[in-house]
Amino acid sequence: MKKGIRKIYQEVAPTYELINHMLTFGMDILWRKRTARKAADINRDRARTSRPFLILDVCSGTGEMARDLAVRMDGRTARRVKIYAADGSPSMIYRAKNKKYLRTVRFTLADAGNLPFPDRTFDLITISFSTRNLNPNPQAMLFYLREFLRVLKPGGTFLNLETSQPPLPIIKAFYHIYIRSVVKPVGYFISGSKAGYNYLSYTMPRFYDAPEFSSLCRKAGFYSVRHHLLFLGAAAIHTAQK
Ligand SMILES: C[S@@+](CC[C@H](N)C(=O)[O-])C[C@H]1O[C@@H](n2cnc3c(N)ncnc32)[C@H](O)[C@@H]1O
Repeated sequence: MKKGIRKIYQEVAPTYELINHMLTFGMDILWRKRTARKAADINRDRARTSRPFLILDVCSGTGEMARDLAVRMDGRTARRVKIYAADGSPSMIYRAKNKKYLRTVRFTLADAGNLPFPDRTFDLITISFSTRNLNPNPQAMLFYLREFLRVLKPGGTFLNLETSQPPLPIIKAFYHIYIRSVVKPVGYFISGSKAGYNYLSYTMPRFYDAPEFSSLCRKAGFYSVRHHLLFLGAAAIHTAQK
């Protein structure tokens, strides 16, 4: 993980969740839960073996996605689930560790491009609101996607929840105005991190639209790539198979 990005997450960690929930009007909470529901469905569909279902939440941050996965899988799914969470920021992991439900999650301090797991370990990989951080350019994005592919079992699933680009030009224009004129100043005001919310408001409008991200997933080696748009395309959930 780059030093500059680690510093940003050190600065924003204490207020990260509050600002996210405020700026998305709580929709980020619903979108993670929706992603966790998809994960539970995938587990149920593949419940033919008695082996535990292994999940890795990459760039887990303060652990909200990992918590939603743990809550969803708790006693409601057909087979035992083991959840791992990896993140490159000690400050973010520190905040995750004391959450209820996260006591069963195994946390690792690790770069998303060099995951400390053998090839073909996981049945499912999730990532939420972090893919943008791994995308200084398409080559770097492909590198990280291939690392996820490496640690997935054949037949395993990648679930990506990320901001996207609304397909309708007028909505997209409003969305970009909202990022510039609300997300950036409000994030800075509450967190005190100018660099943090400059970075966020720089990466959001520049990230791929849903079909472009699907193409990158295919290029990395995934197949059966599908996406589901959320809130007129402000965000998207991508599902891809190894
Ligand atoms: C915007 S937060 C998202 C956290 C969480 N997944 C969520 O849904 O709120 C992005 C996270 O990605 C982590 N991150 C960024 N680049 C990383 C990298 N190269 N390796 C590992 N973690 C990284 C940051 O430390 C941060 O916790």
